[in-house]
Amino acid sequence: MSKPQYHYFLHFSILFLFFFFFITSYCDSSDLISSKCSAHNCGNGVTIKYPFWYIGDNNTDEYCGYPEFGLSCLDQEPILRLPNDSFYVKNINYANFTITLADIDVTGQTCPRARHNLTLENLPLDFTNLDLNLSFYFNCTSSPFSFSTSAVGCLEFGKKQSYVIVMENQSNTVNWIGKCEDKVIATVMRTEITINDLIGGFGAAMNKGFMLDWSTVKGCGGCEDSGGYCGYNNTAKEFICFCSDGTVHSNRCKVKCAAFSYGNPINSGHPFWEASSLVVMGAQAQASRSA
Ligand SMILES: *[C@@H]1O[C@H](CO)[C@@H](O)[C@H](O)[C@H]1NC(C)=O
Ligand SMILES: *[C@@H]1O[C@H](CO)[C@@H](O)[C@H](O)[C@H]1NC(C)=O
Ligand SMILES: *[C@@H]1O[C@H](CO)[C@@H](O)[C@H](O)[C@H]1NC(C)=O
Ligand SMILES: *[C@@H]1O[C@H](CO)[C@@H](O)[C@H](O)[C@H]1NC(C)=O
Ligand SMILES: *[C@@H]1O[C@H](CO)[C@@H](O)[C@H](O)[C@H]1NC(C)=O
Ligand SMILES: *[C@@H]1O[C@H](CO)[C@@H](O)[C@H](O)[C@H]1NC(C)=O
Ligand SMILES: *[C@@H]1O[C@H](CO)[C@@H](O)[C@H](O)[C@H]1NC(C)=O
Ligand SMILES: *[C@@H]1O[C@H](CO)[C@@H](O)[C@H](O)[C@H]1NC(C)=O
Repeated sequence: MSKPQYHYFLHFSILFLFFFFFITSYCDSSDLISSKCSAHNCGNGVTIKYPFWYIGDNNTDEYCGYPEFGLSCLDQEPILRLPNDSFYVKNINYANFTITLADIDVTGQTCPRARHNLTLENLPLDFTNLDLNLSFYFNCTSSPFSFSTSAVGCLEFGKKQSYVIVMENQSNTVNWIGKCEDKVIATVMRTEITINDLIGGFGAAMNKGFMLDWSTVKGCGGCEDSGGYCGYNNTAKEFICFCSDGTVHSNRCKVKCAAFSYGNPINSGHPFWEASSLVVMGAQAQASRSA
């Protein structure tokens, strides 16, 4: 090793050790539970973190999030399994607490036949005002409507016709029993629908999915601010905070780490320090090299 390189290496090592002890003494994150509950990405860029959690091969630890919000990965996309249906998770927005889902059954189909009504039951999810419901009536021997409307050509079966209408306000009741074999309500994004071309556009809209609100289970900001990972105790039915020192708290961690962090309070202390120490190390190495 030549002299300048050795010089550089020594500087780097001393700085590294200094920051290593600095970080570990203030923000010990070697705890197993915390790393188990850290953010995950299936490959399509959607970050899985509390109240959602990643169902890994060996990870069935429901403490990492809301019990029903476990997501698995399929072809680099996260999947949410609800009681009667599975959905691709297109996006999770942690700023306005929404999740965008698309029914796996309809994916890639230009003329999808919805199979299930979406049932949120007791899940802490709500529709948003960006959603719009489409009502499908399948295999009708005659039109169930009092007004005239076109049948969906691509869903025709012999003499049986299928229909789709936008169901605003659920005001008009349609007497379809005896005329049609099945009715299914499919939720789509309002912006993806052109009322004048409903028949031509419903397939693409169903592939785009719909948005649900999970803000009723968002309340874990205090824990994240204090450097912890949010979790959920399904036995006690309450939110818990896994802290880097291995302790579990009901609200937030005893602040040791966050007191030294500044900048974005959303970020927990540890990743912030990790990033900043690397920047400082890089700058010092650069300085010692040019000196
Ligand atoms: C998962 O668990 C099984 C059995 O406990 C073990 O053989 C395997 O190595 C584990 N896989 C990973 C990725 O940890
Ligand atoms: C879910 O599917 C089961 C079995 O097919 C059915 O009995 C039940 O009514 C469905 N639940 C809802 C809410 O659609
Ligand atoms: C949430 O934010 C995203 C991204 O800014 C936006 O596209 C979406 O419309 C918002 N959702 C609601 C319900 O406001
Ligand atoms: C859509 O239908 C669901 C039930 O399937 C209902 O809970 C929801 O309020 C409806 N949304 C709109 C905008 O009509
Ligand atoms: C109509 O009924 C036939 C025979 O049961 C079935 O194969 C077809 O999928 C049905 N079409 C729709 C749109 O439900
Ligand atoms: C549905 O209700 C909203 C307000 O509640 C109203 O502006 C809209 O015109 C209604 N749509 C229909 C089709 O009745
Ligand atoms: C969907 O919900 C409607 C009521 O809104 C019901 O009449 C219909 O039978 C349901 N369809 C299925 C497939 O469960
Ligand atoms: C969950 O709650 C139960 C009952 O209150 C308690 O015994 C258990 O220790 C809790 N688990 C965690 C990880 O906090």
